[in-house]
Amino acid sequence: MRFPAAAISLAISALIFAVASAQLHFRVRETSSSSSSYLTKEEHWMNQTIDHFSPYDRRQFPQRYYEYLDEFRSPDGPIFVKICGESVCSGISNDYLGVLAKKFGAAVVSLEHRYYGKSSPFDSFSTENLRYLSSKQALFDLAVFRQYYQESLNAKLNKSMDNPWFVFGISYAGAMSAWFRLKFPHLTCGSLASSGVVLAVYNFTKFDEQVGESAGPECKAVLQEITSLVEQRLESNQKELKKLFNASKLSKDGDFLYFLADAAVTAIQYGDPDELCNPLTEAKKAGDDLVEAYAKYVKEYYIDYFGVDVETYDQQQLKKDKISSSSSSARLWWFQVCTEVAYFQVAPANDSIRSSKIDTRQVYIYYVPTSKSLPFLLIYHLDLCKKVFGDDMPGPDVNATNLYYGGKDIAVPAYIIKCHNCGHGSDMRGCPQSRLVPKGDAKNCSSPDAVNKVRQNIITYIDQWLSECQFSGVSAM
Ligand SMILES: *[C@@H]1O[C@H](CO)[C@@H](O)[C@H](O)[C@H]1NC(C)=O
Ligand SMILES: *[C@@H]1O[C@H](CO)[C@@H](O)[C@H](O)[C@H]1NC(C)=O
Ligand SMILES: *[C@@H]1O[C@H](CO)[C@@H](O)[C@H](O)[C@H]1NC(C)=O
Ligand SMILES: *[C@@H]1O[C@H](CO)[C@@H](O)[C@H](O)[C@H]1NC(C)=O
Ligand SMILES: *[C@@H]1O[C@H](CO)[C@@H](O)[C@H](O)[C@H]1NC(C)=O
Ligand SMILES: *[C@@H]1O[C@H](CO)[C@@H](O)[C@H](O)[C@H]1NC(C)=O
Ligand SMILES: *[C@@H]1O[C@H](CO)[C@@H](O)[C@H](O)[C@H]1NC(C)=O
Repeated sequence: MRFPAAAISLAISALIFAVASAQLHFRVRETSSSSSSYLTKEEHWMNQTIDHFSPYDRRQFPQRYYEYLDEFRSPDGPIFVKICGESVCSGISNDYLGVLAKKFGAAVVSLEHRYYGKSSPFDSFSTENLRYLSSKQALFDLAVFRQYYQESLNAKLNKSMDNPWFVFGISYAGAMSAWFRLKFPHLTCGSLASSGVVLAVYNFTKFDEQVGESAGPECKAVLQEITSLVEQRLESNQKELKKLFNASKLSKDGDFLYFLADAAVTAIQYGDPDELCNPLTEAKKAGDDLVEAYAKYVKEYYIDYFGVDVETYDQQQLKKDKISSSSSSARLWWFQVCTEVAYFQVAPANDSIRSSKIDTRQVYIYYVPTSKSLPFLLIYHLDLCKKVFGDDMPGPDVNATNLYYGGKDIAVPAYIIKCHNCGHGSDMRGCPQSRLVPKGDAKNCSSPDAVNKVRQNIITYIDQWLSECQFSGVSAM
């Protein structure tokens, strides 16, 4: 058995924008032309083990997956796994992976992440029921799926040799892609981690700093001014203010401020900075009300176009354990954030864009209803973790997570491709990302040439790594 020397590609854009914010999952809006935005939406099911780490527990749950075989060079073409991350997985979207599949004659398969979408082991998301929700369990799911799918294919095609596999993912799923290669090197020829967030970070202040850098000094200054105006109006007339943003539901100021911070991030993170910065810098020059200009952006771009549901920022909603409430995916992701990975997007001590009330230094006053309304002092993120999942939630153990996976010192040979200000996952998704353009077209990215250069590199490495493991098969002895 021979392993490729270099077996992982970390296509990290210079926007090291981790997993967006806790609430910012990938949303591909279903529009009338959505038929072309998926390669397939036909569901398949397998039985998956609920707890991979207990030898006594044999319970199973049905897990959803998809397969796309139109480009497959049967019987021995490669199999590409598109890892689905922290959201509903409604099919295999028609992005750049489809282009790669055609190029390499690959089958594309995709497994829904446990708990999300239709792949939940339980019929409620009570905190107790979420105990098997972790990246470790989810990686094991992928290993079991890989085995299951290969065996089914071998049976179908009457063959015994395994196909060469390659895993792909973006953002958190990108980290999973790298971690899969790390933990199950015998099951894949290589891995591509697009904007893969392999390092769990507690105080993720660099996130806000990167937003400022990407926005540029002029836009950053306007955003900072808006934050300060918003903070003032929160004191003087918060009812009107929240109404202006169509966010009256967010009774907690922390939730409201977090929502506003995410809204600004989105355009920049997904490579669309002009949507945000042009109207704001123009309003500034014209001497218009900046808060109103920002509210217009938030309502038209973030809520209406990007499709964000304000409720997913409401801790009262996040507390609900009923499945299929619109905030279910947000609750699940917060659980992962609050237990494993943190990525708390707090304000840096100096020069931040987001409100410093979203900070680990700033104390946040809240009242615990059960303890006679005594004021407690806690920080926003940890407060949220406790409010949403219960007071005995200790908060994320990022040290343990980084000890388990290695963080930035992840022990696989890696080739890192950088792409300055290309946007989160643009190499695989193209631009724009919401209302995805078919084949992940890079034409509308802020630097299409840079994205295309990254893609050329990606092709070279996949080609090399696949050919290096073609003959031995990976798991065949
Ligand atoms: C899953 O397990 C159930 C119960 O054992 C069985 O009826 C079903 O056919 C299995 N489904 C698949 C896809 O293997
Ligand atoms: C499957 O392959 C084996 C060996 O290659 C062959 O003997 C057998 O007849 C094949 N079975 C079918 C159903 O084609
Ligand atoms: C905001 O609220 C107003 C009034 O309720 C409504 O007409 C408008 O459609 C809402 N805008 C968005 C983007 O949801
Ligand atoms: C904060 O930023 C200002 C201006 O960029 C700088 O002069 C100052 O030293 C910084 N303070 C800290 C504590 O980093
Ligand atoms: C996070 O930042 C706060 C304030 O700067 C500090 O008190 C805390 O110790 C930091 N926590 C970690 C784990 O770095
Ligand atoms: C995590 O690791 C850092 C750096 O090694 C250390 O300073 C910190 O105390 C650790 N935190 C916990 C909770 O163990
Ligand atoms: C791409 O950019 C062009 C030119 O700016 C614009 O006309 C077009 O609408 C954009 N396409 C998408 C899908 O956003």
